[in-house]
Amino acid sequence: MKKNENVDWNIPMLELKNVNKKFLEGTSTEVHAVRDSNFTIYKGEMVALMGPSGSGKTTLLNLIGGLTPTTTGSIKIDGSEVTVLNEEERTALRRDNIGYIFQHFNLLEFLTAEQNVMLPLLVQGLSNEQAKRRTTMMLRELGLGGRLEHFPNELSGGQEQRVAIGRSLITSPAIMLGDEPTGDLDRSAETDILKMFRRINSEKKQTLLLVTHSEWIGAQCDRTIRIENGTIIETGLEEAKL
Ligand SMILES: Nc1ncnc2c1ncn2[C@@H]1O[C@H](COP(=O)(O)OP(=O)(O)OP(=O)(O)O)[C@@H](O)[C@H]1O
Ligand SMILES: [Mg+2]
Repeated sequence: MKKNENVDWNIPMLELKNVNKKFLEGTSTEVHAVRDSNFTIYKGEMVALMGPSGSGKTTLLNLIGGLTPTTTGSIKIDGSEVTVLNEEERTALRRDNIGYIFQHFNLLEFLTAEQNVMLPLLVQGLSNEQAKRRTTMMLRELGLGGRLEHFPNELSGGQEQRVAIGRSLITSPAIMLGDEPTGDLDRSAETDILKMFRRINSEKKQTLLLVTHSEWIGAQCDRTIRIENGTIIETGLEEAKL
C-alpha cells in the first residue's frame, strides 16, 4: 500500500480510550456492543473500519459522532473531550466539524435533493445564493446534475446515497464518518466516490473513517481497523506509520 503523505502524525483527530457501550444496561438482555475500545486516527488519514454484521461498527460511529452517549471511556475529537458535552454543544460540534453519512441515508423526504444538500450550509449561515451555487457544483460532481429538483422518493437507492454523500461533504468537515457510504452503488459509481474521497482527503487534509464490508474499499484506504464482537482486534497503525 502506498503511504499517505498528507497525514500529520502530530495531530490526533480522533482518540478513543477504553470506550464501552452497553445497551439496556442491567437487564437480562444487556448488549455490550463496544468493549474497551482504544484507537487513534491522525489528521489526514483515510481509514476503513471493518467487521462482521453486528460487531459494533455503527454503534462506534454513533458514539464518535455524539449521537449516542458512551457508557464509559473517553472520546476526543481534535483534542476536545466529547463525552462531557451537552446536547447543544454536541450539535455544534457535529455541525462544524463532522460530516456523517448514515447507513440508512436519513434524507429529509419533504426536501428536494438540492435542498437536502444545501441545508447544512444554510444552518451554518451561508446565504441562499452561495449555498445554492456550492450545492449545484457538488451534485453535478456526484453525477446528479439532472436530479436537483427530485425528492428522495423519486430517486434510486444509489442516487439517494450520493445525495447523502453530498450533504455530508458540502461543509468540508474536518472529519467525515461514513457508514457503508457506497453500499448501494455499483462498482463504477463506487470507484468514482472513492476517487472523490481520496481527492478531498489529499486536497483538504480531511480525515475519513469509512465503515465497509468491502475488502476492495479497505484496500483503497490507508489502513483498516478491525472490530469483532465489540472488540477492536487490529488497528493497522504501526504498519501505516512505517
Ligand atoms: N439501540 C440498541 N439497543 C440494543 N441493542 C443494540 C442497539 N443498537 C445496536 N444494538 C446491538 O449492538 C450490536 C452492534 O450493532 P451495530 O449496529 O453497531 O452493528 P454493525 O457492526 O453496524 O452491523 P452491520 O454491519 O449489520 O451494520 C448488535 O448486536 C445490535 O443488535
Ligand atoms: Mg451498521
